[in-house]
Parts: sequence; C-alpha cells; structure tokens
Amino acid sequence: MLLSAKNLYKTYLLEHAEINVLQGANLAVAKGETVAIIGRSGAGKSTLLHTLGGLDSPQAGTVEIDGVPLYYGRQKTRNAIRSRKIGFVFQSYHLLPEMTIAENVLLPALAGPHPPWRVLRERALALLSQVGLAERAEHKPPELSGGEQQRAALARALVNDPELILADEPTGNLDAVTGRQVIDLLFELSRLRGLSLVMVTHSPDLASLCSRVLELRGGRLFDFAPQ
Ligand SMILES: Nc1ncnc2c1ncn2[C@@H]1O[C@H](COP(=O)(O)OP(=O)(O)O)[C@@H](O)[C@H]1O
Ligand SMILES: [Mg+2]
Repeated sequence: MLLSAKNLYKTYLLEHAEINVLQGANLAVAKGETVAIIGRSGAGKSTLLHTLGGLDSPQAGTVEIDGVPLYYGRQKTRNAIRSRKIGFVFQSYHLLPEMTIAENVLLPALAGPHPPWRVLRERALALLSQVGLAERAEHKPPELSGGEQQRAALARALVNDPELILADEPTGNLDAVTGRQVIDLLFELSRLRGLSLVMVTHSPDLASLCSRVLELRGGRLFDFAPQ
C-alpha cells in the first residue's frame, strides 16, 4: 500500500469542551488508486487529510507512506517524507500573492537539498505548460482567475514528483464547469504519473470519478453506498 493509516485518533481540546474528530479512522490506498472522501461539514475531513499528509499529528494511530511511518522519529524526517512524497491541493489555492506563479510552483522544491535555481525554474515552467499556464509564469496570483490559480496549485503539488496527491475540496471555490476542468486535469496528470489521489469533495459527480468513495462519519471511514 502506498498509504496506510490505522486507528487514527484526534481530539481538539478547547477551553470548555473537547471535540473528538477522528475516532479510529482506517484507510489504505494502493499505488495509482483514486479515493474520494465525503462527509458533512465539520466531520473532520480536513483534519483527516492533514493527518494523512504529515501536517498535523494524531494523538494515536499510525500513518505509513510507502511503508515508512510518518509520525515516528524526528519532525525533520516527517517534513522530508512529506515534501518528497506528497503534494497538497487546497480549496483556497494557498498561493503566495507577492510571488510570481513560477516562484510559487518551485517553492516546495526549495525545502531540503535541491538542484540549482535554474533547474528548478525549468521544472516549474514545464509544469506550468502542462497545466496550460505557460504564458502566466511571471504573473502574480491575484492577476489570475480562480481556475487558473488552482491549476498553478496543481503544478506546485507536482514539483517534487510526489507519489500521492491530497486534495481538500479542490473545486470548492470554483464554478461547476471550471471545477470539472481542474479535476479532469488533476486526474489526467495523476494517471500519467501513476499517482495515488485522495480527494475530499462535496460533489457526488466528482466523487464518482474516483475508484472508491468513502464517507467520514463519527470519526471513522465507511464505504459509501449511494441511496
Ligand atoms: N485547530 C483546531 N482547533 C480546534 N478545533 C478544530 C481545529 N481544527 C478543526 N477543528 C474542529 O474539528 C472539527 C472538524 O473540522 P474539519 O476537519 O475542518 O472538518 P471538515 O473539513 O470535515 O469540515 C470541527 O468541529 C472543527 O471546528
Ligand atoms: Mg474541510
């Protein structure tokens, strides 16, 4: 399994309450597999994705990427696995507004040892051309439409040649037609590279494009059976 998460528990402690978000969630994703995660707002989908990707540690349970445990050992090890193996796509793009599109795309490649700037820039430009944004490399994010910004974010997610893409409602800020174009591109790029994909979405149409649909409910994942 490329991704194997077992018995994840995550509770947020607030001043007067605790929120049990993950309560024994399990997930296994094979290489090249596409998995959709659905669930009501507040069910813990973003928390789950962050936990799977090494952005937020669980209180109990294990996550392995390619057989390597994410939450044992040092933070530095986790960061290295995350940046080499996982690409993230967020609902609100998370591009840095002061940097050009090309700089945004190559930013994740600057963590840790990396090839010279010139090489990274070539890589960023090649990716931008794959997502149809070759002409926009020197623009800044606010000059782009939402769909273009999300396509730039796809290029950024791919810059370290990951094995897994984690996408959190990647079309949540886009209209239906633009969202579908972004998703088609995401699936095409993932298929070409043999990547695994875990995508949170509210759209049944988009979820049905994945090989499996799971529902996060009561802090655990269930096979989703449409009514
Ligand atoms: N950093 C945090 N501190 C406290 N509570 C949080 C934090 N992040 C999320 N939560 C709470 O955890 C629950 C799940 O949130 P989230 O994972 O964002 O759900 P979803 O993505 O399914 O809408 C919500 O009740 C949310 O308010
Ligand atoms: Mg969310």
